[in-house]
Order: sequence, then structure tokens, then C-alpha cells
Amino acid sequence: MRYLTAGESHGTYLSGILEGFPAGIRITRDYISAQLRRRRLAPGRSPRQAKETDDFRIISGMSGDVTTGAPICVLIPNAGRDLPPPSSLPRPGHADLAGMLKYGHRNAVLIRERASARETAARVALGSFALRLHELLDISINSRVVRLGGLSPVTAGGAAAEMLRARRNGDTLGGVFEVTAENLPAGLGGYSQWDSRLGARLGAAMMGINGVKGFEVGGGFALASSRGIEAMKDPELSGGLDGGMTNGRALVLRCAVKPIPGLPAGAPSVDLKTFRKKLSVSLTSDITAVFAAAVVGEHMAALETAGALLEKFGGDSLSEIERRLNEWRKTTGKILARL
Ligand SMILES: Cc1cc2nc3c(=O)[nH]c(=O)nc-3n(C[C@H](O)[C@H](O)[C@H](O)COP(=O)(O)O)c2cc1C
Repeated sequence: MRYLTAGESHGTYLSGILEGFPAGIRITRDYISAQLRRRRLAPGRSPRQAKETDDFRIISGMSGDVTTGAPICVLIPNAGRDLPPPSSLPRPGHADLAGMLKYGHRNAVLIRERASARETAARVALGSFALRLHELLDISINSRVVRLGGLSPVTAGGAAAEMLRARRNGDTLGGVFEVTAENLPAGLGGYSQWDSRLGARLGAAMMGINGVKGFEVGGGFALASSRGIEAMKDPELSGGLDGGMTNGRALVLRCAVKPIPGLPAGAPSVDLKTFRKKLSVSLTSDITAVFAAAVVGEHMAALETAGALLEKFGGDSLSEIERRLNEWRKTTGKILARL
């Protein structure tokens, strides 16, 4: 199974292709819309999100509400299509400067348009298929925000107050989100090569989310300062992965998201035409991406574990996967129950 996206932030469409996804998965338009809405209307987002509708079209790979096994192509029209005016002022903390150097562009907008996290809508659309496959196999994938700036645990009221304070100061916030997957079968992934390790694949997928600067599994970074005797008393600390494979326990992943670099208060930059110092001010940015990124993380994790499920159990159709997975669960369940 593989997936790709294309499209720019203010282009006609975003698009995504999911190939190698099995036949026989029933997934409604409402289901995909609900997932896209979760990303778009997550707390902390900018007023642009109220304008976007993410009113997608699926142009291949489905017959009615059921997947056929052919590549699935999703198109999401952008409501905001007014391309911002050319700019030679790179926004610090963004792809702008490195992208302008890399491609030899003088206009940062040409970089921003594709580097923008608007693209993650296409990933969520594709991830909806993977999430639905897990649901049908009785595997639940969820996410929650466990830190917002200095706030942990995160309550709705506390988060609203924290974001209001940031907004008043022209500031933005980072945070940490957690993705969990329960009832994954043991033995997904592998230990034989570095890139067959499921943790490596999940790490790449999660670090591929715009603004993610840290990734950990289970006890993660805190394990570095714990003692072996203590750590070994709690098998949950391995976060559901041992030796690069699922071990039958809940998968627990956490990602650190940096504060939004587009600051209403402005961040110091240099105009690449005049080489004069200038403030890069963003009045249209989100206050925080952590809530939306959590939704994207759920979908990215689902795409990766779906790939690992299909590798382990093969299966061109849902019924084939179910048959093999049920057999596997019976066999491994007997062993795991006796431990
Ligand atoms: C869902 C989502 C929404 C985002 N919205 C904004 C935004 O409105 N303004 C902004 O400056 N950065 C935003 N970001 C963060 C930038 O996309 C990100 O910081 C930038 O791509 C550079 O990150 P990197 O250094 O991790 O590549 C958003 C990220 C995500 C995941």
C-alpha cells in the first residue's frame, strides 16, 4: 500500500492517491467528511478554516460506498484560491528560505503554497480509509492533546484560556499530542532490517507532519533517566512495540509540535531582494497546530499500521484479511493469555 498527495494551498484542488488498499471496505461520504471536519475545525485554527469546506470528490477506486481495490483518488477543492502576492521576505521557521535556496526561487509564495499544512487535509482524506479499515477489524485508533504550551493536563477550559492569552499577546503555542492504537495484532512490522521496524515507519510518518519536532514511543524520553529494574516492572513503557514489532499491547505514540512560527507580533527576517531587515508578520495564522496535528497524526498512524497489516495478512479484500486475522488472533491469543 502506498499514498501520495499533490496540490497547493491556494490551487484549484488538493489531491491524494491511495494505492494497494483492499476491496470491500464500506466507507460513507459522511465518514470522510467528519474526519476532515475534525482537522479543519480543531481548536486554535485561523478564520480561513471557516471558509474552507473540504467538499471532496472521490474520482476512482470506489463503487458506491465500497472500495474496489483500484487506486483511490480524492480531490479536495480549495475555497481560498486567491494566490497571495509575490514576496521576497522568507517567513522564519518555515520552509521559505531553505526552499527558495533549494529551487532558486525569488518568490517565497512558490515555496509556501506546497509547504503549507493545508496539504494535510489530503492526508486525512486518505487516512480515513485506513482508519475505517481498522474499525472494521475491531482496532481503535485515537488521539488527544496532552500538553498545550505550559498546560498539562489539557482541559477544554484551560486550553481556551491559554489560547486567548496567546492571542492577546500576538503569540502562538506548541504542544504534545498522543496517538493510541488498541487491539492491534502482535507481530506487525519486523526486526530484520531497520526500515521494517514499525517504530521507524511510524516515526517517519509522524515526523512528516508539519511542525512536529519530537517523536516518542511509550515511555519515550523519560525512559532515559529511569532504572532498568523499575522500567522492567511496567511493560506498558515499551508503548506496544518490542524489537520493531507490535507486541499485542496498546501502541502509544507521542509527538511534540513546535509553536506556530507565523506570529501576529512578527518575527525578524531579511528581504532577499534588498537584504534589509524586516519583520515577517502573520495575521492569518493559527494560534496552535497541536489539536489539528493530533487528528493528522491519527490518520498517519492509521496509514502506516494499515500498510503493516496488509503486509502481514496479505489480502486483496476485507473478507480475506478478516479470515487470516481471526485465525492469527486465535493462535496468538492463546499464547498471550497464558503469559
Ligand atoms: C494542521 C496544521 C496547521 C498549521 N497552521 C499553521 C499556520 O496557520 N501558520 C503557521 O505559521 N504555521 C502553521 N503550521 C505549522 C507549519 O506548517 C510548520 O511549522 C512549518 O511547516 C515548518 O515546520 P517544520 O520545521 O516542522 O517543517 C501548521 C501545521 C499543521 C500541522
